[in-house]
Amino acid sequence: MNILYGIYFIFLNSINLSKSTTPNVLIFLVDDLGYGDLGCYGNSTIDSPHIDSLARDGARYTQMYSAAPICTPSRAGFLTGRYPIRLGLTSNDNRFRTFNSPGQSGGLPHDETTVAQVAQELGYRTGLVGKWHLGLGRDGEHLPTRHGFHTFFGMPVTNVQTCGNKKVYNLIGGHGEILDRSFFSYWITLTGKIWLTIIVVALVTWLFYSRKLAFIILIICAIGFFVGMWYTLSFTLLSRSSCLLYRNETIIEQPIHLEDLTLRNTNEATRFMTETVQIHKKPFFLYMAYVKVHTALFTLPENVGRSRHGAYGDNIEELDWSVGKIIQTLKILNIENDTLIFFSSDNGPFLERGIEAGFCGRAMASSGKLSKPLRGAKGQTWECGIRVPGIVRWSGHVVSGQTIESISSLLDFYPSLLELWNVESMPDRPLDGVSLWSNLKFISSTIQVRKERNTLFHYCGSTIAAVRQGKYKAHYWTPTWDEGMRACPSVTICPCLSTEHSPPLLFDIEADPAEESPLDIENYADVLSMMNTAIQEHQATLVSVPNQLETLALPWLFPCCNSQGWTRMIRLITNSCQC
Ligand SMILES: *[C@@H]1O[C@H](CO)[C@@H](O)[C@H](O)[C@H]1NC(C)=O
Ligand SMILES: *[C@@H]1O[C@H](CO)[C@@H](O)[C@H](O)[C@H]1NC(C)=O
Ligand SMILES: *[C@@H]1O[C@H](CO)[C@@H](O)[C@H](O)[C@H]1NC(C)=O
Repeated sequence: MNILYGIYFIFLNSINLSKSTTPNVLIFLVDDLGYGDLGCYGNSTIDSPHIDSLARDGARYTQMYSAAPICTPSRAGFLTGRYPIRLGLTSNDNRFRTFNSPGQSGGLPHDETTVAQVAQELGYRTGLVGKWHLGLGRDGEHLPTRHGFHTFFGMPVTNVQTCGNKKVYNLIGGHGEILDRSFFSYWITLTGKIWLTIIVVALVTWLFYSRKLAFIILIICAIGFFVGMWYTLSFTLLSRSSCLLYRNETIIEQPIHLEDLTLRNTNEATRFMTETVQIHKKPFFLYMAYVKVHTALFTLPENVGRSRHGAYGDNIEELDWSVGKIIQTLKILNIENDTLIFFSSDNGPFLERGIEAGFCGRAMASSGKLSKPLRGAKGQTWECGIRVPGIVRWSGHVVSGQTIESISSLLDFYPSLLELWNVESMPDRPLDGVSLWSNLKFISSTIQVRKERNTLFHYCGSTIAAVRQGKYKAHYWTPTWDEGMRACPSVTICPCLSTEHSPPLLFDIEADPAEESPLDIENYADVLSMMNTAIQEHQATLVSVPNQLETLALPWLFPCCNSQGWTRMIRLITNSCQC
């Protein structure tokens, strides 16, 4: 029995670990990749030969769902196998759906056990290259190195528009990615006219009326200026200072240089795999969490114009190049058959970004017929927000060229690995995923499948917005889109709890994956009652935990590579956290 951060794991069979029970694990998780962005998902105009080869040599899932429609909770569910609500990593406040502000000081709780921690216990060398997005903490206590990763090279926060070299000014959104200049100039731009008016009023008062009153006006004005600035800084500002690059627990670049980041990440990944195999002589667990294809988009200059789909297409093709390089390294190391590969995306495309976003794909019903693109976008529980590509390749073990149509989830990755490793989690930490293996054809396998899926809950923040059971999906809440769009550019990303449906909107996803024709609810009372029972049973297992996304600290505690203590505030304000 082993103790992992207070959780007991029973290693049933750990004496008999062999290459076929502890293969290398290689995860490719892409950021905001759409269901229809890859050749192997029906896209005939994009070039993704290497990713397509993974699908050809392995299994392709047509109904793989993310644990949430947005980065932070989705990644948390992926690494823990538990609904993010159990971790306190959900929020119904549109400002706090992810870690997107220097003022948020929470992170993945330490009493949760990530799949990387279990891998470490089993003797794997574990590495994360790319994006974390599960918190930094006040003193880096939530960095990946504190959650089971031996090595980390990447961004603890997220790539945002302001990390790129394009100046994007989103004042309408009121939150999210705002400035590319110093905070001070942003604040003056935003509110300068108000302060100027007040100063003129005070001057006139001083000259023609009462000095005392003018003084009071100025004092109130100054207080308002600083309180307002503090509020904006803490809650609504994501400045370039958030564009951080870490190696383990040290900032090595701030702001990050994006242009060659995929190349650098790829080199880190190949080095990690090579060193682990040749020097450490251990199996590796590599979580390759691409910073792509979230905006700001970036590629090497030689990849600009590669694709016919503009900068977004170039990004997909550079991604594919990177996947190809990593697969090639497996070949060189002669470990192709000893490496289990999992490929997916954290959520659907960021359609608020227009032509800089992905494609929601042809809705491939199980009949195989092609129809309209999936509905919605990232951040929403319509299919496009949550249905993502999903590929498993394990050459020599898993039969190649399979298509798996059963409902699957990124939550399933964790319990699938536990089954493979023959490790059991403890009952006080219920896992929400089920096995990915149950519908997979193996060449030969002794894995015991423990549980199959009954219901999948699609959360929006802390609320169940939709439920999937068999072919039916019920929407209890849906977003309201901007006029003529499937997204909400006016507020950066759609709040997903805008319209409540009672009774819910019910769809047959197999016949109508584009969610266009709601079923007549009266004929489906039994379906709804089974869903309601499932919701009640699920909710009875939830225990209240501290909310990590809404835990706020003073923003000047945010890391600054060339400054410590409170002086960071000055560098943050003047945008001079640079190294
Ligand atoms: C392929 O993907 C690109 C980029 O997302 C998209 O613009 C295009 O419509 C897709 N093409 C097809 C044929 O699916
Ligand atoms: C990161 O940490 C790991 C393990 O703790 C160590 O092997 C590696 O050398 C560290 N990397 C750096 C650059 O310090
Ligand atoms: C890997 O597995 C495939 C398919 O089973 C087999 O044909 C091939 O010889 C194996 N390669 C190695 C290096 O063992």
